[in-house]
Amino acid sequence: MELNLDLNRNVPVLDWTPHLASRTEGMQSSAIRELLKLTQQPDVISFAGGLPAPEFFPLREIEEACRFIIRENGAQALQYSATEGYGPLKEYLATSMHKYGVPAMPCNVLPTNGSQQALDLVGKLFIDPDDYVLTGRPTYLAAIQVWNAYQARYHTMNLDDDGLVVSEIEHAYEKVLADSGRPPKFIYVLPNFHNPAGTTLPLERRLQLAETATKLDLTVVEDDPYGELRYEGEDVPPICTLIPERTIYLGTFSKTLSPGLRLGWIVCPEVLMERFVQAKQGSDLHTGTFVQYIANDVCQRGLLKPHVRRLRQVYKERRDTMLDALAEFWPDGCSWTRPQGGLFLWAKVPESMDTVEFLKDAVAQKVAYVPGVNFYPNQDGGHNAMRLNFSYCEPDLIVEGIHRLGTALKQVLGHSH
Ligand SMILES: Cc1ncc(COP(=O)(O)O)c(C=O)c1O
Repeated sequence: MELNLDLNRNVPVLDWTPHLASRTEGMQSSAIRELLKLTQQPDVISFAGGLPAPEFFPLREIEEACRFIIRENGAQALQYSATEGYGPLKEYLATSMHKYGVPAMPCNVLPTNGSQQALDLVGKLFIDPDDYVLTGRPTYLAAIQVWNAYQARYHTMNLDDDGLVVSEIEHAYEKVLADSGRPPKFIYVLPNFHNPAGTTLPLERRLQLAETATKLDLTVVEDDPYGELRYEGEDVPPICTLIPERTIYLGTFSKTLSPGLRLGWIVCPEVLMERFVQAKQGSDLHTGTFVQYIANDVCQRGLLKPHVRRLRQVYKERRDTMLDALAEFWPDGCSWTRPQGGLFLWAKVPESMDTVEFLKDAVAQKVAYVPGVNFYPNQDGGHNAMRLNFSYCEPDLIVEGIHRLGTALKQVLGHSH
């Protein structure tokens, strides 16, 4: 039979809403994804995404790894593989956690499709409809997005210059218990170079958090995509080191190797691992075999460490460029964090301003950022804040973009310039 394909045929547009599960009501596409579309215009200076600098992707190292794998292990690398992950990579990851004092063994490690999948699996395993998650205010918005799909609620606590105010945890826990009759399911923390706030939780607060979590029998989800990207100061032990028995630690290669590989990992107690494996099996059977081989090859040949050392130099320079430009071009009444690492800083403009409104002015000047409200799970703050990424743009564009934003800010605030 000949198929008469008419691509111009008018296919009716149906309303799918009544057919969808009720949990989809809380699902929204991320504001950042929408913004990223905007920033794809070549002339926009984007401080919006969390993108690594593409000109520093380790192309040669990955090309060599691909050739080597195909030559030596092609058939295995292109085959289905175990949900638990590729043994040598698990071994490498477990050992690499030892330098932070995390007592991980390969049986505690599960490679995932980016740490975003790990966040999803946490939701799948822990969140019943209307369960509460404790987190900071602001917090990582894609975690909120993924847990909204499980109908989570959020009880938030303040952040100050040192990150989460951990002395608020106990009260937050009691409040959730009193209001909902159930304890919160876990606390979600970003101790290193917080996205979006740029803060780092000092050791004393980590110790206090560990003590409180133990007292309350509270699970800790520790999200650490940026820990390797420290530009100054000393490493602080992960919470996972302090209370490995109740911490689910999330790591990723996205910021050190490449986000397009989509490779992250979970470190958790062995007794919980079986559950994660079951949850993951239903989602995608396993993390891409080829991708695990590539990361393993790059790591085992010792290529990751020098690459990360180079990234630290590059991003430190970009951070400093942004900090200097802010000091030079932004009007009085603005403030910002000075992150010791990571990819973001958090800037505040005067209370009278609204950064959602101001985004129109910014985009008119061909500059993009993410408005602060997007990082507040209960939409109760951040109206005069914005997240600025400093890893993606080259230094001269950082200066230009911050200058343009400063000029637009002065106009709105009625300053002369
Ligand atoms: C705090 C945080 N968690 C998780 C992720 C997701 O990372 P991945 O690319 O590993 O999925 C990101 C990415 O920007 C992040 O900032």
